[in-house]
Amino acid sequence: MRRKLAAGNWKMNGSIAALEMIDQLSQAHGDAGCEILLCPPAPFLIPAREKASSGPVAIGAQTCHAATAGAHTGDISASMIAETGATHVIVGHSERRESYGETDAEVQAKAKAGQNAGLVAIVCLGESLEQREAGEALPVIKAQLKGSVPAGSTGADLVVAYEPIWAIGTGKIPTMAEIAQVHATLRADLKDLLGDAGNDVRLLYGGSVKPGNAADIFALPDVDGALVGGASLKAADFSPIIQALDAS
Ligand code: 13P
Repeated sequence: MRRKLAAGNWKMNGSIAALEMIDQLSQAHGDAGCEILLCPPAPFLIPAREKASSGPVAIGAQTCHAATAGAHTGDISASMIAETGATHVIVGHSERRESYGETDAEVQAKAKAGQNAGLVAIVCLGESLEQREAGEALPVIKAQLKGSVPAGSTGADLVVAYEPIWAIGTGKIPTMAEIAQVHATLRADLKDLLGDAGNDVRLLYGGSVKPGNAADIFALPDVDGALVGGASLKAADFSPIIQALDAS
């Protein structure tokens, strides 16, 4: 059984004060069946971990460098993230692929670095609007998966998040049939790549997940949770999404 995962990506938002939300989530979801994860900006990892203490909220980072250490001003290594007590790292988010030109090979190296440091790597992929309109969504996603997932990954150290670029922060989402088609394709390809372990890797949907659409998305086969951006910034929005996942 794959344990469901509600993951929040704060991106470059939030503050130390906003970490208070972790208290609210801990109180509301102390007995949640699903896993809850918040990924705040790197300076907040340690205070976030302190707030989360032994409660239900796990903490993750939004990227890492592929190298273990060295002359990489401004970057952070996976082992530094692990030292804070964080347990997950997002890699290959489309905003980083776009802004920093991260290639599949670099994303794969970052994911491997995260896994080597004991972190769960959340590998993001997804097509652009032009690619979807050109009927290329599936080949693009399949190539990203093959290029970005480290060999030997398992359900214990890999999560894959499907985030269509045109659905991020726009309020638009694919049809339920489109999400189901992509997730079924990812599941089949993960089994080809990883064997039986491919069945244990959790598949998240991300892109304009809100309290109003979460239940429909979570009812789809092979959707094991969500990677939530804007709606993870406030407990009032994130809590109902966690509840919908728990109830699915
Ligand atoms: P939104 O939920 O704000 O669309 O962001 C999705 C996302 O990019 C999560 O990583």
